[in-house]
Amino acid sequence: MDYFNYKNGILHVEDLSINNIARSIETPFYCYSSTSMRKNYNDLSNSLSKLNTSIFYAIKANSNLAIIKLFSDLGAGADVVSEGEIRRALKVGIPNNKIIFSGVGKTKKEISFALNKEILQINIESESELELINQTALELNKKANVAFRINPDIEVNTHEKITTGKKENKFGIPWPEAKEVFIKASKMKNINVIGLAIHIGSQLLDLSPLEKAFKIVMDATNELLELGINVKNIDLGGGLGVKYVDEKPPNFNDYADIIKKNIDYENMNIFIEPGRRLVANAGILVTKVIYVKNNGKKTFLIVDAAMNDLLRPSLYDAVHQIKPIQVRESKNKKSFDIVGPICESGDILAKNIMLDEILPEELLSIHSAGAYGSAMSSNYNSRLLVPEILVQNRDFAIIRKRPTYDEMLKIEKLAKWQV
Ligand code: LLP
Repeated sequence: MDYFNYKNGILHVEDLSINNIARSIETPFYCYSSTSMRKNYNDLSNSLSKLNTSIFYAIKANSNLAIIKLFSDLGAGADVVSEGEIRRALKVGIPNNKIIFSGVGKTKKEISFALNKEILQINIESESELELINQTALELNKKANVAFRINPDIEVNTHEKITTGKKENKFGIPWPEAKEVFIKASKMKNINVIGLAIHIGSQLLDLSPLEKAFKIVMDATNELLELGINVKNIDLGGGLGVKYVDEKPPNFNDYADIIKKNIDYENMNIFIEPGRRLVANAGILVTKVIYVKNNGKKTFLIVDAAMNDLLRPSLYDAVHQIKPIQVRESKNKKSFDIVGPICESGDILAKNIMLDEILPEELLSIHSAGAYGSAMSSNYNSRLLVPEILVQNRDFAIIRKRPTYDEMLKIEKLAKWQV
């Protein structure tokens, strides 16, 4: 585990023992290693250094302001999918010309916001979106810089809920049909066509579908250039997978190689939008055992974190490693299902995890939780959002506090006829 290691039998993040943090922060909480995130970014950036590639951190993976700032300080721009994410990026000082706006359902209000902020590029996903952007730009007296996301119709081997590059997915415009849309766009007064984009799915462990998609987007680019449409940016999306248990994710040099082999990096600006790979293994969710419950067939550890804090196991059957914070060596490990307090049988964090004897009040860490963990959390069952902690060497900072119950309740009120 990156920067999450046992010292004297106690799990540490960088040089800090989790027990130390848990003395001042109530569980559950997310805990991130800033050194791990920086290393991931720098390794990726070094592998791509000769390829004219800019990195746009996909904020959706972990949108905490401090995490965005960490990547911004290293030179990253931001890939965003909502006005809220644009606001997050701008708030930590990402320049407007380093923001790319993706997503299939941008509203007129969001488009206006992006145009007024003069962000780098809006990635269009349909002809009707093109019309709306042109119309909005006309009203604002602006010229919208746009790229088109093409759908290369490529099968990828990942969870069905996170594949995006097949024709049956809602994303992108199928190529070559998209050519007509490009031609139409290039004649629109308030549209400036500057690029193409793809993103075929997430948690990709095999580079070959990506390579196929890169070829398709490069061929498409050449066709457009031949038509006199002067595209200059190719956005290759995100998608690089990580190791949750025993997966073998592609390495950055091999990724750089398929860019080098298939994309004209000397004449085009290359953009990538990594999310998971930068943050997943840099974060854990720390939780406490409330009860040990045996129902005859199974032994459950009922812990204080739940599906509202980490949805991935319930939603995608994702497997995250779970370990005790304090190792207690014993010869007979037992199998446990680790579940949260939420009133749903689907509130499972892990099934059949082998652990030493464990007692209430003991702490556990749920690994590889830095991406799509906190970002996908909710208040379901009126549970408070959990705090987020950022560690650097021996130091730690609370980068999101636990709200109070009053804060959670204050945005709701009774209807006027109820009071
Ligand atoms: N660019 C676009 C247009 C995307 O839609 C995504 C992710 C990314 C970049 C970043 O992809 P990454 O490098 O993180 O794979 N909640 C799911 C993952 C959903 C990914 C959505 N799009 C999960 O927990 O597995």
